[in-house]
Amino acid sequence: MYQCSVCGAQSIKWVGKCSECHNFNTMAEVSEQTSSEKKAKCGYEKAPAVIAVSAASAPLQESHERIATGIKEFDLAVGSGVVDAQSILIGGEPGIGKSTLMLQISSRLSQEGLKILYISTEESISQLLSRAKRLKTVSPNMFLLAINEIGEILYIINNNDYDFIVIDSIQRVTSPESDKAYGSPNSLRQISHEIITACLEKGCGVFLVGHVTKEGLFAGPKTLEHIVDTVLYFDSNKSDSYRVLRCYKNRFGSTNEIGIFEMTENGLSGVKNPSGYFINQRQEGSTGSVISACLEGSRSLLVEVQALIVHSYMPVPKRVCLGIDSGRVSIIAAVLEKKEGIKLSSKEIYIKIAGGLSIQEPSIDLPLALAIISSYNEKPLPSNFIAFGEIGLTGEIRGVNNPSSRVREAKNLGFTDVILPDVNMKEVQIIKNVNFHPVSKLKKIIEYLT
Ligand SMILES: Nc1ncnc2c1ncn2[C@@H]1O[C@H](COP(=O)(O)OP(=O)(O)OP(=O)(O)O)[C@@H](O)[C@H]1O
Ligand SMILES: [Mg+2]
Repeated sequence: MYQCSVCGAQSIKWVGKCSECHNFNTMAEVSEQTSSEKKAKCGYEKAPAVIAVSAASAPLQESHERIATGIKEFDLAVGSGVVDAQSILIGGEPGIGKSTLMLQISSRLSQEGLKILYISTEESISQLLSRAKRLKTVSPNMFLLAINEIGEILYIINNNDYDFIVIDSIQRVTSPESDKAYGSPNSLRQISHEIITACLEKGCGVFLVGHVTKEGLFAGPKTLEHIVDTVLYFDSNKSDSYRVLRCYKNRFGSTNEIGIFEMTENGLSGVKNPSGYFINQRQEGSTGSVISACLEGSRSLLVEVQALIVHSYMPVPKRVCLGIDSGRVSIIAAVLEKKEGIKLSSKEIYIKIAGGLSIQEPSIDLPLALAIISSYNEKPLPSNFIAFGEIGLTGEIRGVNNPSSRVREAKNLGFTDVILPDVNMKEVQIIKNVNFHPVSKLKKIIEYLT
């Protein structure tokens, strides 16, 4: 067996480059444990302290009680509040607002009567205090601490009765055992595991703040996701004025819920009307612009799809997509070329979801096709129209889930006409004062461009 001297990663055969920390020439042979040693370490003879119970006869445990933080967008993202002893990982790129959000949450939870400890491993106590004062997140039940040694952190957890502990950030927690491997995936995994286990034994919840690498992964290749109950991640870019907090994993609620915040000088504040926020700068009557209603978790959001089609002088025309999968755009372009005869192979295609949102939902296909045709033909879609629907490879328009919530959101924002898949009509026809334009084939959508 070979072990990396930097991060401790193991490999059966010798390799020149460590697969975990990517350092060269760090693998050294280590002696394997004998089977009797292994047996002693695993403790095969030791009986566990608990016994298995029958699911049918065991008494029902009390269901988890939700504690709402009062920060509406955060509560929505985690599913109407946090649960006792929940472990939550919050990730995001540097400077996006993780510490700000954590201070705000800690303060709100302490106002609910919970005892909160905010451990900063990155900032000094005076920096932390000045930030807390600026954000007006000072509360008698909230305690601040600036330490970063794992032993000290575990001591504090074991010898106090906090309801929630915040570790900001987990990557800066150091362990004497993994001095060399500071910040490596292995040491991060081990440190997080120890903290979460100590918190679980104490019945205290924990928020772990994690940085994201340039590639968009939690540094320490997403290893923490498996050991926490909930994973939240700031989806948006730091350069955008809003911040989207998306839930990727939740043991106590649904995933894919999002919270939308705006960074203000008083901290992060929830955006009251997200749909209005994302489409308010739309230029009416412009070609290549189509509004769609997308489903983000349990709520609908109106977004603007923009397309720009220009003639290409290059042998391979450019395709640039922002906020949408380029594979999806290529498929729609290919379907439009094959089924509708729109010659896109000699054109450059630029697609953007205005406002910087990122959409992965299939219902974006129909508005995407409309935006492409609109720019290609230089014909705008009337400004009171929205569209949603999936497009199949044969040019058929397929139904999407929850069409009525999408139509209601559009109606609330003053849209009067909806282009939607034929099969979704049954569900939405009870909604009054909206003109529906059901389509089942791609061909029909061209009629709506004026
Ligand atoms: N005095 C201030 N007034 C207004 N906004 C501020 C002020 N100080 C910081 N900010 C905002 O807060 C953001 C930093 O937030 P925060 O420190 O919570 O981010 P973070 O994700 O914790 O960063 P890091 O990864 O570096 O710890 C800045 O980008 C800025 O927009
Ligand atoms: Mg921070």
